[in-house]
Amino acid sequence: MTSTYHCRKLAIYYRTMKIFAPIQSIRPILAVLAIVSSAVISSVSCIRNPNIDPGEPELGEEYYTGGKNGTTFLSTSKAYEQPAPAVTDAIAFLRGETLFEGRFVSGDGSTPFSGLGPAYIRSSCKDCHPSYGHGRRMERYNADDYGNGYLLVIYDDDGKLCPQFTGMPQTRATHPFLPPINESGITITWHNHIDEFGNKYPDGETYSLIYPTVSIDPNAMLPELVPAKYNVAIEATIGIYGTGLLDAITEQDLIDEHAKQQARGYCQGMPDLPYAADENGTMKVGRYTYGCTRSTLQNGPGANAIWNITNVTRPDRRYHYITTAYATAMANNTDVQNVLGISSDSVYNYLMSTSLEAEMTTKDFDDFMIWHRGLAVPAARNLDDETVKEGKKHFYDMGCTACHKPSWTTGEDTRIPGFSNQKIWPYTDLLRHNLNMKEPGLRLYCRTTPLWGRGLSKMVTGYDEHLHDMRARSYEEAILWHGGEAAAARDKFRNLTKDQRAAVVKFLEAI
Ligand code: HEC
Ligand code: HEC
Repeated sequence: MTSTYHCRKLAIYYRTMKIFAPIQSIRPILAVLAIVSSAVISSVSCIRNPNIDPGEPELGEEYYTGGKNGTTFLSTSKAYEQPAPAVTDAIAFLRGETLFEGRFVSGDGSTPFSGLGPAYIRSSCKDCHPSYGHGRRMERYNADDYGNGYLLVIYDDDGKLCPQFTGMPQTRATHPFLPPINESGITITWHNHIDEFGNKYPDGETYSLIYPTVSIDPNAMLPELVPAKYNVAIEATIGIYGTGLLDAITEQDLIDEHAKQQARGYCQGMPDLPYAADENGTMKVGRYTYGCTRSTLQNGPGANAIWNITNVTRPDRRYHYITTAYATAMANNTDVQNVLGISSDSVYNYLMSTSLEAEMTTKDFDDFMIWHRGLAVPAARNLDDETVKEGKKHFYDMGCTACHKPSWTTGEDTRIPGFSNQKIWPYTDLLRHNLNMKEPGLRLYCRTTPLWGRGLSKMVTGYDEHLHDMRARSYEEAILWHGGEAAAARDKFRNLTKDQRAAVVKFLEAI
């Protein structure tokens, strides 16, 4: 069946005929679903909104982590999946949600969610962002393991990504194609780390720290792709909710924040702000991903992932996420030629074509982005608890807020007007800092991770690990890994009493 699909995909390419029955075939089902669920959506956010419940005292502004129009007061296991109050088009939101949650298939052209492959990373977004949160720490790399949100990073000694592989390397393929890397050859090893303090607080309490190294056996790579020299790292998922609000922060505010950090002596290794192209090709300040490699949501990690994770083409991307080295390797493979019944040149031309038929419609992509942009941030909890208040005081006193900038006020948002002028509490400056971490992979300079909503991780996803490769098994370990620019803040944390440290963690859990 899959080979039929690929022959068919080829046929489409060669005849430029539209014979795909794309995702719209589920439209009637979705419409019904949406009507039923929109009632649920609005009632959920209303019932839970303390402002609307008569008799409830109004909560302080810090509870509204995503601002009045971007916060959900649901704090169950569905806390990361809610539409913000500012979302007006519930049907589009739910259609978009379906695309995020759905599993793409190679199919024969008549099923919804068709278009997976030729090579791909996962068949669903949800594989890496379970419950819309972040992935978990893994002992091995298998795309089928629940919660494996890791992306592989394959780079040379100068820190450049190896051009033989896609920037997000693929480990799966649809028949008859072969994956660039066979997962059985990937090894993740966890090592114990002894820090400069012998893993001991001044009060004598001890802790343990671990970090990963990753290797790939060259024999597990397609022979044509093996780089002369390469290093491998893993990078873990970040939460998705609230990224629409971060998009509404103005460019000027980011530039000003960077100048402030430099004046403070931070962000020194990188005099320039990272810039990345927006959806129109204009360079803008990067604000998404650990490397700040994406500047706008419309050309952000999610907008790209729906294309490059699955290799599902769409009208503005009528080409595969593929490298010439891979196309060459597949074109020279006689099995591939035989199964498809075409010449080596034809295989190559198909794989590298820039005029493939779109497998996802513009409408699907637009709705997907309405969902993406509209995800609410869970409200903060327990901020009036005495221990949480104490933890907050330490968080500010220790200088954590220098990088974990508590709040921003968004600018005008034309896409979701309700997101305009919202005071939001992401606890990040959206800038990269050097925490001088052992074996950081390519993330020696790493963006300050937003802390909002993370306290619900354990309840929502069943696990609660932190940092760009999930090496920290608790909030405490995450703080203890802060060296470099954050060493002074970490040392203040180390000097707290055990109860005070616990209060800091309570505060982090509350926001
Ligand atoms: C292979 C696992 C994987 C899949 C599948 C995946 N992601 Fe991610 N996602 C990641 C990783 C890893 C990061 C952090 C990457 C980085 O910093 O470069 C990330 C980051 C993000 C971010 C950035 C958040 C921020 O604050 O910067 C968003 C948004 C996102 N993903 C959305 C999506 C969407 C939407 C999909 C599906 C279309 C998707 N992801 C599929 C692994 C995945
Ligand atoms: C110099 C800037 C800076 C300072 C100061 C700082 N942090 Fe961070 N923080 C970061 C960066 C950068 C990361 C992401 C590091 C990574 O993932 O490799 C981070 C990550 C974290 C995380 C993990 C987030 C996640 O879920 O992955 C926690 C928790 C955290 N910081 C708490 C604190 C606390 C508490 C303090 C004060 C004691 C503090 N930080 C001070 C920059 C800073």
